[in-house]
Amino acid sequence: MYICIPVYLGLHSCGSYLIFYENSFEADFTFAETAVADFQGGSLRYYFTYGSPAQLLERYTELTGRAFLPPRWALGYHQSKWGYRTEEKVREEAKAFQAHNLPLSAIHLDIDCQVGNRAFTIDPDRFPKLASFTQELRELGVQFIAILNPGIKYSRNSNLFLEGQILDGFCKLPNGKLVVAPVWPGWSVFPDFTNPKVRRWWSRQYQYLLDVGVAGFWHDMNEPAAFITSGDRSLPKVTQHYMEGRGGDHREAHNVYGLLQAEAAYESLCQYSADRRPFIVSRAGWASLQRYAWTWTGDVECTWAALRTTMATVVGLGLSGIPYSGPDIGGFQGNPGGELYLRWFQMATFFTFYRTHSSNNVEHRTPWTYGEPYLSIIRQFLELRYQLLPYFYTLSWEATQKGYPPVRPVFWGASDEPAVWGVEDAFCSDRAPSAPPV
Ligand code: NOJ
Repeated sequence: MYICIPVYLGLHSCGSYLIFYENSFEADFTFAETAVADFQGGSLRYYFTYGSPAQLLERYTELTGRAFLPPRWALGYHQSKWGYRTEEKVREEAKAFQAHNLPLSAIHLDIDCQVGNRAFTIDPDRFPKLASFTQELRELGVQFIAILNPGIKYSRNSNLFLEGQILDGFCKLPNGKLVVAPVWPGWSVFPDFTNPKVRRWWSRQYQYLLDVGVAGFWHDMNEPAAFITSGDRSLPKVTQHYMEGRGGDHREAHNVYGLLQAEAAYESLCQYSADRRPFIVSRAGWASLQRYAWTWTGDVECTWAALRTTMATVVGLGLSGIPYSGPDIGGFQGNPGGELYLRWFQMATFFTFYRTHSSNNVEHRTPWTYGEPYLSIIRQFLELRYQLLPYFYTLSWEATQKGYPPVRPVFWGASDEPAVWGVEDAFCSDRAPSAPPV
C-alpha cells in the first residue's frame, strides 16, 4: 500500500473504541498486552472515541472530513490498461464494449497517452481531436480519465519546470539544491505541495484539460515514488518542505504529499468545472484523503492470495475513513487466467471503485479476453452492478452524511461478537444500526 493512516479500532466485548494519531511521521505500531505507537518525530496528539463501529466512523470522519458525493457514473464500471496509446485504440475499446453488449462508464488513460510521460500533456499527434473525441465518448456514456504524476521533467524545455522555478516551488535539499530523481519523464523535480502557493499553481494546470472534456484525473506515483534501486524509493528524508509556513522536512511531509496534491486537484475541479462533481483517484494519501479523492490498491500481483488480501485492504481503507477504493481487477502484474479474473471481477462488483487495470507487459485484459463461459458470467455481474447503482448511490449519500464505508467488515453490526472480529475474507454492506451518538 501507498497510504498509511495512523488510526485503529479496538474491538472488545465490553465496547469498542477508535484512536487516531494526528502525526504524519513514520511510526511503528505494536499490538500486544499493551498497544505501543512509536513515532519518529512530531507531537503527541491523539483522539479517542468509543462506541459501535458506526459511531466510531461517524466521529472519526466528523474530525477528518467526509467524502463528497461522486458523480453517479463513477459508480459504474471503469476500463483501464497501461497501453492505450492512440485515440483510435480507445475508440475501438469503447465500441467493443458496445459490441459485446457490456456497460462501461469510464476509460482511464495511462502515461502512454502523454508526451514523454509528462504531467498535464496528451499527445496531440496521437489524440488529434481531443475535445470532439471526449464528446464522442460521452455520447457513448463513457468518461475520459487522464493520469498524471507529480514529478516534473527537469529541463528548460519544460514549461512546468520553468513556471515552478519562477515560483521557487520545487523541493530542495538543505544546501539549497533542487531534489532531482528519476521517474517516468526522466530526471524530475517535485512540487512542494505543503506550500499553498504551489498548490494554487498546480490547481491551475487542470483547467485546459477540463475544458477539452477530461472528466477526471488519476494521480499516480505521488508518494512520491522515485526509481531508486536501494533505500527509500522516495525523496531523501532531509528534503526541505514549506509545511504551510513553519518549515519541516520530508520525514513529516512524506505521508501528506499525495494528500495535498489531491487537495489541489479537488479545488481545481470545483473551481474550473463547477457544474460537475469532481472525480480524482490518488495512489497516495493520509487521513482525510476521502475529502478529495478515491484510491486503488496499487500494483497487486495476479494471484489468488492477492485477491484474498484485497478484501481486508478495501475494508481497512473504509474503516480508515476512505469509502471509495478497489483493486486492479485481475491484478496488475501478470496474466490471471479466466477463473481468477472472473472471481476477482465478481468480488469487485460489490466494491465502490470497479476497474480493470493491468501493466503494459501483460496480455490485454477485458471482460471478453477469456471467451465463454467467462464473458457471459461477467456480463451478468456488470448488469447486476448497474441494477444496484441506486443502492450504491444511497450508500454514497450515507458516506457523505455519516462517514460509513459502503463496504463493511462482517463485525459492523455485531462488534460484541468475538467470532467475527478476525474475519478477513468476507465483507458486507448492510444498514448500520441507528444509535444515539456517544
Ligand atoms: C504505477 C501504477 O500503480 C500503475 O497503475 C500504472 O499503470 C503505472 N504506474 C504506469 O503509469
